[in-house]
Amino acid sequence: MRKIVIAGNWKMYKTQAESEEFLQGFLPHLQETPEEREVLLCPPFTNLSVLSRNLHGSRVQLGAQNVHWEEYGAYTGEISAPMLIEIGVRFVIVGHSERRQYFGETDATVNLRLRTAQRFGLTPILCVGETKEQRDNKETESLISLQLDKGLVDIDQDNLVIAYEPIWAIGTGDTCEAVEANRIIGLIRSQLNNPNVSIQYGGSVKPNNIDEIMAQPEIDGVLVGGASLEAESFARIVNYK
Ligand code: G3P
Repeated sequence: MRKIVIAGNWKMYKTQAESEEFLQGFLPHLQETPEEREVLLCPPFTNLSVLSRNLHGSRVQLGAQNVHWEEYGAYTGEISAPMLIEIGVRFVIVGHSERRQYFGETDATVNLRLRTAQRFGLTPILCVGETKEQRDNKETESLISLQLDKGLVDIDQDNLVIAYEPIWAIGTGDTCEAVEANRIIGLIRSQLNNPNVSIQYGGSVKPNNIDEIMAQPEIDGVLVGGASLEAESFARIVNYK
């Protein structure tokens, strides 16, 4: 049975005070939705503790935006899986295109981070997706296939979420057509050995396109950037029909 996973990726936005203010607006708007619809927030590391405290007893789970592949060590600026687990984090985004583009993440480091996340009981959300140039050159399918091949070496597909995020659709308002996202996600699924992996779409998801996106049969949820920063718009996304 595939779960629906609706996640907000706050990227480098919100202080602790702003996070608490968000929750005051967001939590009362959450409707009762089916059990299999998971909702999570992935704030900056500095806000994980405050969210963990405030989400206690709610149905909203906590995700981090990255994790290092070692358990501890001299890795200035990094955060380990045990540190995340201790404060109640359950999910972690790995291989987001912004990490790949600005911080030198490769398929090899993505794979290491995925392995460690799983070893400590976190559920990783592996992000894959093509640039505009790669799409124009008709390299989308081969690129994603390579990202999956290399990223998923020795990864347990029973504890995994994948996010298809076409880079040209991130933060641009230029959403990938729902039917096309559905097609690519179907291709991703055909490359997995577990048909029950939840596969999200990410890239300019908004209250006005969520219903169409979630009506697609292959799409099991969304990874939302900008629209997850505003309580009412993220609540509308979570409460999609
Ligand atoms: O991880 C979510 C993301 O990259 C999409 O961002 O702002 O286009 O919803 P946005």
